[in-house]
Amino acid sequence: MVTKIKIDPITRIEGHMAIEAVIDNGVVKEARSAGTLFRGFEIILRDRDPRDANRLTQRICGVCPTAHATASALCLDDAFGLTDKIPDNGKVLRALIFGSNFLQSHILHFYHLAALDYVDAVGALGDLAPFVPRYEGDYRVTGEANAELVNHYVRALDIRRKCQEMLSIFGGKMPHNVGIVPGGVTEKPTEDKITNFLWRLNEIRDFIDNTYVPDVIAVAKAYGDYFEIGKGCGRLLSYGGFDLPTGRLFKSGVISPDLQLEPVASENITEDVKHSWYADSSSGKNPAQGETKPELNKKEAYSFIKSPRYKGEVCELGPLARMVNNYVQGDAKVKELVDSLLGQVGAGVDALFSVLGRHAARALEAKLVADTMVDWLQTLKPDEPTIVPAEIPDQAEGAGLTEAPRGSVGHWITIKDKKIDRYQVITPTAWNASPKDDKDQPGAVEQALIGTKVKDKDNPFELVRIVRAFDPCLACSVHLLDAKKSELGIFRVV
Ligand code: NI
Repeated sequence: MVTKIKIDPITRIEGHMAIEAVIDNGVVKEARSAGTLFRGFEIILRDRDPRDANRLTQRICGVCPTAHATASALCLDDAFGLTDKIPDNGKVLRALIFGSNFLQSHILHFYHLAALDYVDAVGALGDLAPFVPRYEGDYRVTGEANAELVNHYVRALDIRRKCQEMLSIFGGKMPHNVGIVPGGVTEKPTEDKITNFLWRLNEIRDFIDNTYVPDVIAVAKAYGDYFEIGKGCGRLLSYGGFDLPTGRLFKSGVISPDLQLEPVASENITEDVKHSWYADSSSGKNPAQGETKPELNKKEAYSFIKSPRYKGEVCELGPLARMVNNYVQGDAKVKELVDSLLGQVGAGVDALFSVLGRHAARALEAKLVADTMVDWLQTLKPDEPTIVPAEIPDQAEGAGLTEAPRGSVGHWITIKDKKIDRYQVITPTAWNASPKDDKDQPGAVEQALIGTKVKDKDNPFELVRIVRAFDPCLACSVHLLDAKKSELGIFRVV
């Protein structure tokens, strides 16, 4: 029997996302992932002062503004000819501000967005908001272990606050920091600020080591079958990120399904729009030549997300892509972290390509970033500069590629007469949650859904667990809710 499951909106993610799955004899045969909001920042930015991009693109998203602050600063550094001139202090401060956001975002994702798919909050606390309504049935952790996980949900709120405070020490405020600008960082490191940062970081590290990572392992042991579910496209892309005077934390590379490594060249990135609400004339372009031309009357379109592809191939981005990239490229610390976790749950490297593999990679990455931030902090030099002056050129082009919590993010600019002529942003969720491309290849989330067995179509845990493991951020990915298209049927928000 063929049935269709439509989940719209998917809750406990950032933004407005819908998925539709065609189920034949209990198995997903076809899947559609759709971003139902129009972003349009590229249009807002046209003809403005190029420096505005650094302020305005942060407003794309309240969850990941620091990623846009960083990518836009790198993009403007490039266009202004400053890339090689950023003082070491500026690089380190940028990394510390961005790193604080990584930690906050990963802890947010596991505890406050994804964990309620596995942890029985109603069993521990009763039938209370905000834990109901929800899908019913498959909660496997019980008793004290479950109550403990629910306690950690509450504790994680406080830890996230500490991450935001830490970010604000050098970034001024969160969301939308005012520290990261083209040329470096506006704040100066002092002994006082470094100490204030460090005690918070140590408390966060303690939480990651003794709570977050063990909780992910506990969930993995109870839901072992989720190492087999949601494999995905198998091709991983990382632009690389956290460029410090001492080297780069996240390595850059494309990893093929048979774990072969290829270097990344941004000329190979294109965006298709056959199934997106944009004019076909803008399809297949590299983002440096990219256009954002909304067109709502397209028969085959079902998303405001475009379909970014690398050499025409579908790629998955995010912590899994980064951890596997570093692993394949011989990063000893990542290898030790990954092998140790896989050993504890009795799984091989292949198991990383799964729902639980994505959660594990994210937790280990939080540990890697937090531990490394201590080293970065120690390289700050209080008396040295943090920034160089920036001057707007008459004409220029620039690109800023980096790694956001959800995966690689890129900003591209063309400047004419000292104004923005063209600006394009490609976010990680645009890659992961993209619709089919011009060759009708499904996007990464769609591929992860296809082939999945759904045990109970009224409580399709498998589908939401797959989608949430990617940590989608829709506000970042869509390029207005189209009121005419929303279906006024009966739906449950769970
Ligand atoms: Ni976002």
